[in-house]
Amino acid sequence: MSNTLAINGGKPVFAENELNSLTPSWPIAYPETEQKLIELYRSGKWGCYSKHEKELMPAFAKFQDAEYSVWMCNGTTTLECALIALGIGPGDEVIVPGVTWIATAQAPLYVGATPVIVDIDPNTLCIDPVKIEEAITPRTKAIIPVHLFSSVADMDKINAIAKKHNLAVVEDCAHAHGAKQHGKGVGSLGDVGSFSFQLSKLMTAAEGGCCTTNNAKLADDIFRASHIGNSFLDPKVPLQEGLMCHQYRMTDFQSLIILDQLAHQEELRDRRERSAQIVRDVLKDIPSVKMQASSYADDTRAYYFVTFLLQPEFVKEGVSRADIYAAIRAEGLLIHEGWGCPLYKSPVWNIPGKMYIKKDTEVCEDVMYNRVMCCSNTTFLGTDDVAARVGECIAKVMRAYTK
Ligand SMILES: Cc1ncc(COP(=O)(O)O)c(C=O)c1O
Repeated sequence: MSNTLAINGGKPVFAENELNSLTPSWPIAYPETEQKLIELYRSGKWGCYSKHEKELMPAFAKFQDAEYSVWMCNGTTTLECALIALGIGPGDEVIVPGVTWIATAQAPLYVGATPVIVDIDPNTLCIDPVKIEEAITPRTKAIIPVHLFSSVADMDKINAIAKKHNLAVVEDCAHAHGAKQHGKGVGSLGDVGSFSFQLSKLMTAAEGGCCTTNNAKLADDIFRASHIGNSFLDPKVPLQEGLMCHQYRMTDFQSLIILDQLAHQEELRDRRERSAQIVRDVLKDIPSVKMQASSYADDTRAYYFVTFLLQPEFVKEGVSRADIYAAIRAEGLLIHEGWGCPLYKSPVWNIPGKMYIKKDTEVCEDVMYNRVMCCSNTTFLGTDDVAARVGECIAKVMRAYTK
């Protein structure tokens, strides 16, 4: 393989659009689902809490090692309903990481609480447990760790802090379908897990969301908050007076699609993990780039975004992250900067300053502005050979740009 970078006229690792042809397009359409969708269409039983949703509720919960799953229209409403069910509201503070999608921090705002934004760990990119503890006040009621991009937050430490200070833990699992820590599924590790099934997510029905929990009362309260006060545990229970409840239901078409995807999840997750290991091996002797780290060696990772971290101290003087992006893209790998900024700098985070509290977030800014490089999960759904070549796109560029 030529060492001359494609950006300097060398032969690229992948020809134009070659990688796309070697990996599946997203979302994956499974033939077995098509006929079932037609049958459902003809049945007219399209609504929420129908046949497929009733099957999906225990099946997805089991997949994540939880007892219950409650389904909604997206993974923003799930965070909001989790907080409502936990009794969080005006005057309360909820600790969230500074690198996440805005939904994580908007959920506390929607219920009238104050999000408190803290820093992340520079290696896992998930919320830093030390920074959580520093941010706790008598008003703190909950923590929302995010299992970000491809890592699982350190739930041992987060749960220990929550127990010590009597706080609820809502895991934001929007990126982590099928991920585990110490062999237990995310979404079963805290009080509530919140999943998104939006189009780019690892499981998707174009839109959709669910909360997982091991607590029957919480599951029912979440259901009531999202299904205009109705109980799913006992339909005869009257509507709950005074509950701030919403109509956030999803349709049986979505349930059917997600239910069928479950059968493929372990295979897809294992494929991505295997590709990640191959890429990690290709990069292991290059000091200027690392892959996003796991909290624990036994974490099972889901790889929503496959994320690399530049180590600028090892990069040649005068080479910017933009130069590196351009060179990797020229090798045929589409790399991007994730959301491009910490959540509180996002153009859609137009919240007046007094409605949230931001702690020191130096690592969030360094990671988002100087270090992070992401690529899509489908990049890791090719063969071993494709994975080795993906690693080579990055290795070739970083070898050239390392001091
Ligand atoms: C970390 C995180 N949390 C929550 C959400 C919200 O999910 P949804 O788009 O389904 O509302 C997203 C969506 O991208 C996300 O990335």
